[in-house]
Amino acid sequence: MTDHIRIFDTTLRDGEQSPGCSMNLEEKLRVAAQLEALGVDIIEAGFAIASEGDFEAIVAVSRQCERAIVASLARAATGDIDRAWAAVRHAKSPRIHTFIATSPLHMRVKLNKTPDEVIEAIRTSVSHARNLCADVEWSAEDATRSDPDYLCRAVETAIRCGATTINLPDTVGYATPETYGAMFRDVIGRVPNADQAVFSTHCHNDLGLAVANTLAAIMAGARQCEATVNGIGERAGNAAVEEIAMAIRVRGDVLPVQTGIVAKEITRASRLVSGITGMAVQANKAIVGANAFAHESGIHQDGMIKDSSTYEIMTPDSVGQGATNLVLGKHSGRAAFKQKLGELGYDLSDNEFGDAFKRFKDLADAKKAIWDEDIVALVDDEVLRG
Ligand code: KIV
Ligand code: ZN
Repeated sequence: MTDHIRIFDTTLRDGEQSPGCSMNLEEKLRVAAQLEALGVDIIEAGFAIASEGDFEAIVAVSRQCERAIVASLARAATGDIDRAWAAVRHAKSPRIHTFIATSPLHMRVKLNKTPDEVIEAIRTSVSHARNLCADVEWSAEDATRSDPDYLCRAVETAIRCGATTINLPDTVGYATPETYGAMFRDVIGRVPNADQAVFSTHCHNDLGLAVANTLAAIMAGARQCEATVNGIGERAGNAAVEEIAMAIRVRGDVLPVQTGIVAKEITRASRLVSGITGMAVQANKAIVGANAFAHESGIHQDGMIKDSSTYEIMTPDSVGQGATNLVLGKHSGRAAFKQKLGELGYDLSDNEFGDAFKRFKDLADAKKAIWDEDIVALVDDEVLRG
C-alpha cells in the first residue's frame, strides 16, 4: 500500500490572509464545496477569534462539509481555543489547530516569553484543546528558525498533551529542500513519542521553494501537507495544492505516495478561487496558468502534433484544463499553421498555402498575438486575391 498524504487546505485561512483576498460567508461556502469536490482531507475554514464574520463562516462551512475534516486556527490562549471549538464543533469531523512560535526571535520579540514559558503555554493550550476535541493539531510557528533541541522538546510536549498532528511550518519561507527535509528527519528521529502523531508541512514561498520544500519533507516522513489553491497566502504565498498533487502524481517513481486529490477538479478550483478573491493566476503558473499547456515554437508544435508526450508531462484534460493550445506566433511552423487552417475549415492548394504561410509569418513578426480572426482575414484575403 502506498502511503496516503493528507492534504490540509488552508485557502480559507492562510490564503485569505493575502492582502485583498478576504472572503465572505457565501464565498467561503462555495470554495469549501469545491475543495470537497477536489478531494482535500482537511479544510482550515478560518481563524474563529479573528472576527464575528469569520466565526460565522467557519460554523457554516462546518455544517456544510460532508466528508472533510474542518479546522479553525487558534493561538495558544484559552479564549482562542474555546472560540475555535465553538465554531468547528458543528462539523462531522472537527479539528482544533493551535499554534505558538518556537524560534528565539519570535519568543523574545513577539511573545515576550522565555522558552520555558512557551513550553508551559504548549502544555496548557494543547491539553485544553484536547479536552474539547479528539483531533488537535499543534504548530511550531517559525519552526525552521528554531533551535533543533528546543523544537524537539516542544514537539514532545505537544504530543504528550494530546496533539495528534504536529505541523512544522516554514513560516517565513527561509528553508531549502535540504534543510527542510533534514529538520523533519531530525525531529521524527529524535522525539521519543513521534510515532503518536502525523507530521505536517506548511511552507511559504518567499524564495519560490514552497512546493520543493514540501516534497522534501514528504520524503523525510511528513504525511500531511498544508497548501492553498493557486498558492495564495501571506506575502509570496503558500505551497500550491495543485502543484504538490500533480508532482506526486506525475513523479510517483521518486515520490512513492498518493493523495486523494481529484485532478480533474483542479482547474475549476483554481478559477473559482481566482474569481472570488480577484487574485489573477499568472499565465505561466504551473498546472493552472493560461500558458501551462500552450506551445508556440514550431519545433514544439511539430512534436505535439506527432505525440503530445514530446512536450507535455501531463495532459491538460487530466487537470480539467480543456485542450492543448498550439498558439500561433512567429516561432510557429508549417505543421501547426496547417492544423489551424484545418480547424478553421480551410483546405488550401499548395500554392495558396505557401503564400498564406508567408503572409502569416510577416504578420507574426509585427503582432504579439495572432488570433483566429487574424488567420481568417489573412486567408480570405489570400483566396480572394487568388
Ligand atoms: O505560517 C505559519 O506559521 C502559519 C501557522 C499559523 C500555521 O500559518
Ligand atoms: Zn502560514
